[in-house]
Amino acid sequence: MRVLGIESSCDECAAAVIEDGRTIRAEVVASQAALHARYGGVVPEVASRQHLRTIVPVVEETVAAAGGWETIDAIAVTYGPGLAGSLLVGLNAGKAYALAKGLPFLGVNHLEGHVYANWLHVNDETRPEPEFPAVALVVSGGHTDLVWLDGHGRYRRLGRTLDDAAGEAFDKVARLLGLGYPGGPVIERVAREADASVTLPRAWLKGTYDFSFSGLKTAVLHLTRERSAPPAPEVARGFQESVVEVLALKTAEAADRLGARQILLAGGVASNGALRRELARVATVPLRVPPVRWCTDNGAMIAAAGAVRLERGERSALDLDVEPSLKLASGPSAR
Ligand code: KG4
Ligand code: ZN
Repeated sequence: MRVLGIESSCDECAAAVIEDGRTIRAEVVASQAALHARYGGVVPEVASRQHLRTIVPVVEETVAAAGGWETIDAIAVTYGPGLAGSLLVGLNAGKAYALAKGLPFLGVNHLEGHVYANWLHVNDETRPEPEFPAVALVVSGGHTDLVWLDGHGRYRRLGRTLDDAAGEAFDKVARLLGLGYPGGPVIERVAREADASVTLPRAWLKGTYDFSFSGLKTAVLHLTRERSAPPAPEVARGFQESVVEVLALKTAEAADRLGARQILLAGGVASNGALRRELARVATVPLRVPPVRWCTDNGAMIAAAGAVRLERGERSALDLDVEPSLKLASGPSAR
């Protein structure tokens, strides 16, 4: 089965065609990062208007590269979580194409998409499938969720952030340090070049799998106000170390204690090399990480998550609405 995946939840307008839930046939990602950079963050109105301009060319270019509409069997589209105006553009485009082409249609949870980037094949090579039960750490600009997966589509929440998402913390700290937007890649780059690192607090929230990054952000704010503030790269390195250490240790500990067979790392912050290395170092069960280009938002991950559900016969009605606050797993955090 060939699935067209469409993603427009934030500032990436993206589409991809994948085969059998795993193999990429065509992929286009139109990033709006440069457009939002001058504002220091994503401006929702600017994002939705730009999606309106790019959605049709992005989808048409992807489908043409995959061999045309007659090669497509189904359409999977992000319907939440994300910015309402941005989600609406992709979802309505997906619905309209499904209706016009007579194709099955499915709404996909964006966070599930991030997790399923781990099922995509790299350069057509066949990797062994990720194994269940798994512990997934989803770290993006809007979310930090630690979840238990005991089968396809079966999630239980272990923990989440109580305040800022990890990516949001990277973006805010980069702004405090005058490093620009998006913050994650630039913090990673300057941290690599720093000669030293400033020691910053770690919020362990012992006895839970929850996270908190707002205290760390405030600590950076206070540092930048000091008259003899340390150089930005040293603060950036200390900040990254603090985030990475807590994320990696708590994830490894959850997987170990709960008897997971796999750790799945996912989301934009999963492209961070320090996090990938630290989690690999402390994990006692095999770690799976998507290639960097499928960590940040893309259409292939939406097609991959959609394919698993479509193959099981799931379909969405054409009156499906966007859900800006959609969760991956609900319920209280649990030990
Ligand atoms: O998953 P994503 O593309 O969009 C959301 O669903 O939010 O994640 C974007 C987030 C941004 O906050 C960005 O700063 C962060 O991922 N990010 C990184 C890196 N690359 C992107 N954070 C840390 N290190 C990176 N290399
Ligand atoms: Zn995302």
